[in-house]
Amino acid sequence: MTNPAAIGQPLDRVDGPLKVTGRATYAAEHAFDQPPLIGWMVEATIPAGRIKRLDTGAAEASPGVAAVLTHHNAPAQTPFGEPDDKGRFTQSRAMLFDEHIRYHGFPVALVIADTLANARHAGALIEISYEPDEEAVTTAGEEADEVPGELDGGMEPDLFKGDFEHAYDDAEVTLDVTYTTPNQAAAAMEPHATIADFDGDQLVVYMSVQLIGPSVKALANTLKIDPDKVRVLSPYIGGGFGSKLGVHNEAILACLGALHLGRPVKVVQHRRHVFHNAPHRGNSVQRIQLGASRDGKLQAIGHESFMPMARGYEFAEPTGASARTTYRTDAIKSTHRVKSTDMPLADSCRAPGHAIGSLAFESAIDEMAYQCGQDPLAFRLGNMPDRDPGTGQPFASHDLAECLREGAEKFGWPSREPQPGSRSQGRQLIGYGVASTIRLNILVPSKTRIRLSADGTLTAWADMTDIGTGTYTILTQIAAETMGLSADRIKIELGDSRYPSSSGSGGSFGAASSGSALLNACENMRTRLLESAREQGLIGDEPADDARFENGQLILGDKTLSFTEVLNKSGAAYLETDGEVEPGDDHDNYSQHSYGAQFAEVHVDRDTGEVRVQRLLGVFSAGRILNPKTARSQLLGGMVWGLSYALLEELMLDERYGAFMNRDLAEYHLPVNRDMPTIDIHFREHPDPRSNPLGSKGIGELSICGAGAAVANAVYHATGVRVRDFPITLDKILRHLPE
Ligand code: MOS
Repeated sequence: MTNPAAIGQPLDRVDGPLKVTGRATYAAEHAFDQPPLIGWMVEATIPAGRIKRLDTGAAEASPGVAAVLTHHNAPAQTPFGEPDDKGRFTQSRAMLFDEHIRYHGFPVALVIADTLANARHAGALIEISYEPDEEAVTTAGEEADEVPGELDGGMEPDLFKGDFEHAYDDAEVTLDVTYTTPNQAAAAMEPHATIADFDGDQLVVYMSVQLIGPSVKALANTLKIDPDKVRVLSPYIGGGFGSKLGVHNEAILACLGALHLGRPVKVVQHRRHVFHNAPHRGNSVQRIQLGASRDGKLQAIGHESFMPMARGYEFAEPTGASARTTYRTDAIKSTHRVKSTDMPLADSCRAPGHAIGSLAFESAIDEMAYQCGQDPLAFRLGNMPDRDPGTGQPFASHDLAECLREGAEKFGWPSREPQPGSRSQGRQLIGYGVASTIRLNILVPSKTRIRLSADGTLTAWADMTDIGTGTYTILTQIAAETMGLSADRIKIELGDSRYPSSSGSGGSFGAASSGSALLNACENMRTRLLESAREQGLIGDEPADDARFENGQLILGDKTLSFTEVLNKSGAAYLETDGEVEPGDDHDNYSQHSYGAQFAEVHVDRDTGEVRVQRLLGVFSAGRILNPKTARSQLLGGMVWGLSYALLEELMLDERYGAFMNRDLAEYHLPVNRDMPTIDIHFREHPDPRSNPLGSKGIGELSICGAGAAVANAVYHATGVRVRDFPITLDKILRHLPE
């Protein structure tokens, strides 16, 4: 009988009951004997410049106020950005450091009081005057001309293959188009939140954060404290999507408050704070040039990316990733340029590079298919690569063509009218769209420790996080299957910097990395159990490979021994083993990606230009599926997000102030249930042994790559109108529709 908790089973989330009964403690919910003091962030109202005068007298005298922290009285810190050789996750994030304003919304004071209402009221009493910098720049377009040091994920900013200019000039069919995507927010449900507690020696920080190890270093570096004296806890997280990879502003402020007062201080970002005081995705301008033969073979692919970079914070998004990796071509020109701006930090947001790169690139590919007079699906299938086009490396596995074929059949693609704008139902124009889906598959060094106790229970520890993805659940399954235990015998302990150092969550690498380390620890435990049983003469010298581990028992030859028996006999209260994983040659020498194909049907109202998505379908190939239920949830989320990028999401900038205007979830448009169609998800399950010992591949960020382009391409097919400025709002369609 299959263990219902085995890998590949749709096990319900093991932390589900804790979450739905309110017993999972998120960062802001940690309970102390005395309630913590509450900090309220006061934001700058200019994009760049300095504080001229700051009067906190009235705020300090306001009821309930314990302290007002500003650059005049905040504890000592390392200057922002230093040391700059340590990377962005560990560099100093100094706040309230000097009179310098980095961006609109940058904290200028933290008011600490007994209640939120008192802190917020006192915050309004602070009087500030500024001396603005004239040259403050707020956004970036094609004028971006700085070459970033390295792109997120380690890619080079520039990639040239073959002779692009010649190949493009000689091509029979060419396309030269520019797409734009707006500033976007991660919009996690749980706002960024921290409680810091300092007892004069140890700083304990309850923080919603995806990567724990680097956060300890960042806090220690910023606050000039020995890293051994800093402990970070993040056991439950209400969504991160990259915006919680590293420490964020409220965490530094809470720590400054705790250091100053010697009491626990809680700072929860107000929803409006989050849009400026947590990272966002910068806007992009993407110029795409394609050259093909008349029969639709791509010969030249050009992609030039222009994006903002927050001054003093090195993060550049690899939007050219899709152009470099998806289709066969003789020549590639891919460049990334940035412009330093006085804007809130631009940083990782779900699938950096591929998410908005695919939105533009898969739209341009669609345009090229029409120019060549080909069906967009056939055009894609006619340009499948046999090696990674950008790096020239062989693929660890490649399943894109099969995803496209299988998806087309399931979606009913053959019934599509070839001519755009030719199918309608009443006043509704009907269109079908397709896009390829591709996302990096990464493995990150990770460690775990496990303990098998004499009562037959197993506990695993890692400083891993579960950002809502299901980490607790899939780790339970890996231990259950490998050790032959039921789920209720297994306890997964995550989210504490005292536990062994793990990958953390991000870049779709969490499950593969932390899961492989746990698999390794369990394999080591099996060896330990066998050795122990042998030492005590409980088993003979049958080959270890013949041993089975089932129902809490070790079975070898004619012997069946419970783990409890083995441990009791040896006199040990428990056995402990460590496990680890490191990316090896297979990640150096092979191109590693997950794949998919996505299809959309849209209806566009002829009179209003309103787009309603009727159907989304995706076929995905991401190696071995650890849990089809949690995997499906990840893919659903990405497809919702893709629709959202195509049609809704846009942080609107007031260029005069460098401020986002729509800083809440009413004005920052996200899809609601009424906007979402039926979503149909299929897996093509092929375990990939080159990926990691589990054979799984990254899945978290997969479906956001391509979902938006499938919708955009369907809008074009419905209307014959190609909108190159995302999101595709109805005004951009309506003005081009026939009367
Ligand atoms: Mo990832 S950028 O942490 O969704």
